[in-house]
Amino acid sequence: MSEIEKIAKQILAKGKGILAADESTGTMTKRLSGVNIESTPESRLKFRETLFSAEGMKNYIGGVILYDETIKQKTSSGKTIPELIKSFGSVPGIKVDTGTKKLAESPEEKITEGLDGLEKRLVEYYKLGARFTKWRAVYNISDKFPSELAIKSNAHALARYAALVQEAKMVPIVEPEVLMDGEHNIKKCYEVTSVVLKECYKMLKLHKVNLRGTILKPNMILPGNKSKDKSNTREIAKMTLKCLKENVPSEVPGIAFLSGGQTEVEATENLNEINKINDTNFAMSFSYGRALQQSALKNWAKNIGDIKKTQEIFNHRSKMNSLSSTSKWNKDLEKAS
Ligand code: 13P
Repeated sequence: MSEIEKIAKQILAKGKGILAADESTGTMTKRLSGVNIESTPESRLKFRETLFSAEGMKNYIGGVILYDETIKQKTSSGKTIPELIKSFGSVPGIKVDTGTKKLAESPEEKITEGLDGLEKRLVEYYKLGARFTKWRAVYNISDKFPSELAIKSNAHALARYAALVQEAKMVPIVEPEVLMDGEHNIKKCYEVTSVVLKECYKMLKLHKVNLRGTILKPNMILPGNKSKDKSNTREIAKMTLKCLKENVPSEVPGIAFLSGGQTEVEATENLNEINKINDTNFAMSFSYGRALQQSALKNWAKNIGDIKKTQEIFNHRSKMNSLSSTSKWNKDLEKAS
């Protein structure tokens, strides 16, 4: 097994998932102002350090995705952030795309940028301790979208990114996110996600990416957040598994879902249900941002001095998601702690 294949397995070892703490400064500022905290390099570090030094990191978090600012910061005890993460046996990762821009000729859609100078940045991130990376493409659903242009150009960028990352000896997380926004039903989400994933894997193969050294970070198959047709957990799990079985090559070792605007408990419950019926060889786990951090952030903002309570909340969410990654979660466990 090659080094990157080992890293991919380590990140999604049994009962472990990923903490996506790679919000750009703009997004983090939005999250912090939502809880009335001024966003500064110090406040962003303080919150993140609180999570990265929590006990839950040890057993439940196999990897942490960082943002450029954070990977270069030092903790209050003088350790670098990657050193802190590694001290729990977890793998430091880094978001390497530089965000989305209007797609030329289809300005209501987005293309992800960041390929220029990527090779050089990857060398730097490796030196700083990163062993995996993330690149997120976004697709919105409407009557007209996503267009063939958005699907093909984003898949091309994802594949070029993944090939460069593997050359730099790191594991690329491939994240094609079909957004939850809209009135569409679950069937439409299934259809769009299927086309998007097919194109991504066509391009990844063309660019000779070793799929065994990658992790897929997809959306779950859900109805739009303004849809009149609600779906239950069982239907979500069934459709999600069907979509992944039909479109993801079996060499891919692991799938780590994004939470995408689901509530914390919804994201946990849906993952648990998917794992109950998972009859594939894919490790199915989490790579949650909001669904791991929301409650912890609220508590932290209320009382910045009470690190213990914030960490307890984060430990609990991490544990719940760890249990759901092996289908051992149930609602009573939420109340128990
Ligand atoms: P959410 O889980 O909040 O959707 O974030 C995951 C992520 O990393 C999006 O790129």
